[in-house]
Amino acid sequence: MDYKAYIAARIPALGVEADELAATVTVPPDPALGDYALPCFKFAKILRKPPAAVASELAAAYPVDDVIESAVAAGPYLNFRIGKKGLARETLVRIGSERENYGVSDMGKGKTVCIDYSSVNIAKPFHIGHLSTTVLGGSLYRIYKALGYRVVGINHLGDYGTQFGKLISAYRRWGNREDVERGGIHAINDLYVRFNNEATEEMEAEAREYFRLIESGDAEANALFEWFKSLTMAYVSAIYDRLHVTFDSYAGERFYLDKMQPVIDALREKGLLVESQGAQIVDLEAYGMPPFIVLRSDGASLYATRDLAAAFYRKKTYDFDKCLYVVAYQQNLHFKQLFKVIELMGEPWAKDLVHVAYGMVSLEEGAMSTRKGKVVWLEDVMNRCVEKAAKVLEEKNPNLENKAEVAEKVGVGAVIFGALYNNKIKDIVFSYEKALNFDGETSVYVQYTCARAASVLAKAKEGGIAYMDAAICTPNAQEFELLKALREFPDVIVSAAKNNEPSLIARFAVDTAQKFNKFYIECKIMQAETEERRAFRLRLTDAALVTLSNALTLLGIGIPEKM
Ligand code: ARG
Repeated sequence: MDYKAYIAARIPALGVEADELAATVTVPPDPALGDYALPCFKFAKILRKPPAAVASELAAAYPVDDVIESAVAAGPYLNFRIGKKGLARETLVRIGSERENYGVSDMGKGKTVCIDYSSVNIAKPFHIGHLSTTVLGGSLYRIYKALGYRVVGINHLGDYGTQFGKLISAYRRWGNREDVERGGIHAINDLYVRFNNEATEEMEAEAREYFRLIESGDAEANALFEWFKSLTMAYVSAIYDRLHVTFDSYAGERFYLDKMQPVIDALREKGLLVESQGAQIVDLEAYGMPPFIVLRSDGASLYATRDLAAAFYRKKTYDFDKCLYVVAYQQNLHFKQLFKVIELMGEPWAKDLVHVAYGMVSLEEGAMSTRKGKVVWLEDVMNRCVEKAAKVLEEKNPNLENKAEVAEKVGVGAVIFGALYNNKIKDIVFSYEKALNFDGETSVYVQYTCARAASVLAKAKEGGIAYMDAAICTPNAQEFELLKALREFPDVIVSAAKNNEPSLIARFAVDTAQKFNKFYIECKIMQAETEERRAFRLRLTDAALVTLSNALTLLGIGIPEKM
């Protein structure tokens, strides 16, 4: 509800247009004065009366109702108080009708956001370090979509580099088709690790030769590379499905190899490219940064060169209004340099490039051995969390139906929530116990709250109690607190997008679940004092369930019906 417009529509014409009148309505600095106020100075001039006189005349004539329950003059101001009942009606009608679209808006209509996230490396482990980028990016993807933006999710695959030469060399030496087919990414990774452990001068030279073969388009070397790539993609896709993330483009580093030259030419034309110890660089000393290396002395491109080409390609292909790079803060300097170079090239869209940096996720000491040189695979963390979730659920509710399905939602949800609950820049230590605490600030707490709300509603339905069109009651304290929280959801989504901070939604979900539980415990829903109040509380319960479900969905977390 647009309260300002509502108030303006109920004030007599004062010689200004309705829009202007609504725009004059403000929020008083001290909420004790009222929820809204109309300063009367402007009208005093038009009406040739003192502002205080205008305010008291308007107060006397204002038709209060349950939307605005009082209008009181205080000096030159006319102060309004929102009616609790009106607020309840407004909120419940809106959520009850918008349902899964509650929170959705068209704020971003006509605008495009590119989001570069997850960006895993082919033939390398999908490890816990990729958790945050994957789930932060996945959540931002849904948040911007909900706000009406066109969103392009890009997985900037790490599919280029000398490691592929090493891999082919290792495969030729120790591998065979059956083992790799069977072992998939783990077998590939083992080969790679073995190469690094046993590499001799001669093997390194061989690896360089294989890499050169890939680059020069050798059919056999490329077929092997494509095979390794497809095995990696099959593996990561299964993880993406479990995490509920999707991509619109898998254009990785290799994709840009033939798109670098025009950008390098442009750098040269603009006089930005200089030679330094045989390498081609952009000098950034004036900006307090080390040089941005474009081409190595042997003429080879770098990660940075491919990113430069990628930025131009994305601008040309998608004409984005914003391009986000969801990448760990370890790459802060890389992105600062990259954006600076594009700015120096005179591209006005350099300002639309945003590095969404995040902190490190590590596992609680002793939770899983990170034996020297061994990385923690994300899949193992997910599986372990699901296993633990199954145990906790078994203790809490041995008769639960679809146990495996619920455990998957709870366990994977806890891993996602672990990475999304804190401000993204913070380093996080993930603890299975804490993440699966039913009474903590956790996803399982929110999921359990949803299941609790769903179970009350199911009971009401079984008992034939209709509540969707229930009469609106004047809310008591707990009901009012919950209603106010539910109303904030659309604004929370907007702030989450403005700050690229899904944690705002995660926190909102926990806060709102806490308010719901307070309401649930203190206000007996099914044993309400009157039938009218009972139906009203059920309707409020439905609105809470809708809102919490929408919040979890934006985070990529599933909602079990029963728990
Ligand atoms: N593959 C890189 C890594 O794992 C991340 C790539 C991020 N995106 C980019 N456009 N640089 O570190």
